Amino acid sequence: IAHCVTALDFEAAAARGGVLSHSALSYVSSSANAGLSLRGNLASWSRVAFRPRVLRDVHHASPRSRILGFDSPFPFYASAMGQLGRSHPGAEVELVRGLARRGAHGLVSTVSTVPTEEIAGALRDEQRKLAEAGTGKKEDGQSGDRDRDEAFPPSQLHFQLYVHRDRAVTLARIRRAKQAGFRSLWVTVDTPVLGKRTSDRHVQASEALELGLGQAAERAGLGHRTHAPAGDFQPALSWADLAWIREAWGEGPLVLKGVQCAEDARLALRHGCQGVVLSNHGGRQAHSAPDALTTLLEIRTYCPEVLGKLEILVDGGLRDGADVLKAICLGASAVGVGRPFFYALAAYGSRGVERCIDILSEELVNGMRLLGITSLVEAQPEMVNASRLLNE
Ligand code: FNR
Repeated sequence: IAHCVTALDFEAAAARGGVLSHSALSYVSSSANAGLSLRGNLASWSRVAFRPRVLRDVHHASPRSRILGFDSPFPFYASAMGQLGRSHPGAEVELVRGLARRGAHGLVSTVSTVPTEEIAGALRDEQRKLAEAGTGKKEDGQSGDRDRDEAFPPSQLHFQLYVHRDRAVTLARIRRAKQAGFRSLWVTVDTPVLGKRTSDRHVQASEALELGLGQAAERAGLGHRTHAPAGDFQPALSWADLAWIREAWGEGPLVLKGVQCAEDARLALRHGCQGVVLSNHGGRQAHSAPDALTTLLEIRTYCPEVLGKLEILVDGGLRDGADVLKAICLGASAVGVGRPFFYALAAYGSRGVERCIDILSEELVNGMRLLGITSLVEAQPEMVNASRLLNE
């Protein structure tokens, strides 16, 4: 694990370890159509430059933040990924153990491998173990760095909802998540139908060809077989449905995941949502979808009034703690990270998850100090230069 020094290194570690099957590798790396949206996500954050301030006493810096009103040691969380059993046999349980040991938040997918209640139970078990061991501190308490040695707040889990064609199924899912103690409900709205997952189709077609199934291979190439629960999504979902979803969820934050333009952020506020995730689903849904940075800048330009009223989360292509800082400067309250956790979990289980969090957190604090700030409250738009993007 020592040679993993950036979040990107886990992908190579997972590939080197041979722990992922060809089809699991294709599942995690898959993107829509010719991959434009995914490549756009990965490239986007490098288009913003910092405007560092110097001589500002940055001896003690803390990345503490709040996500939907809950304390978090840092402004990032593990984003929803379905079927984590394809990454590691311990699936979501193993992920949650790693998150708990760092106090990190996690968004749990509707299509998890392990039942919702078991995932919530795994978090409680790990937190009990941490309390018994008298920790709540990072394991490497010898760093001598006061900020790093502070006790961190407990992990929180949020629930990602795919709305099923059958309302009764959705209502049961919401009820179970509520009962299991999930803190907020995030409705994924960028998936009325499944995007065209090209690499999954290549794998399915070649598997069928290997088996000598000519016609099946042709069908697979046209998407007649998918791993995701494509037939379950409610394609008729509309803004009006938020009322019954809200009623079923009751008290507690409601978030829309997959907002991709300023108008829809404004509508989310009007419909009583507490937050939005600017996201194109990791480049897996619409072709030529905007990256989250573009949508964030669009909101800053066309409806800045929502920024103070709606919590803005972003995800897609964030692989460096310093890039997380750019998003916070531009008004995001937190950032979701997807694929790096899948690879870290595959290669090293919960230790990989901890390591990935430590890497992002270290880069973030380092970035804050080099920018000349010691708390995220100071992370403001004037600390970055996005003018190149605005003029494009
Ligand atoms: C996802 N994503 C996703 N989103 C969601 O709302 N529900 C889900 O079940 C899944 N499943 C899923 C599986 C896999 C393997 C990936 C890679 C992604 C999207 C995810 O939550 C997030 O939006 C992106 O992954 C963020 O982009 P990066 O960090 O992977 O670039």
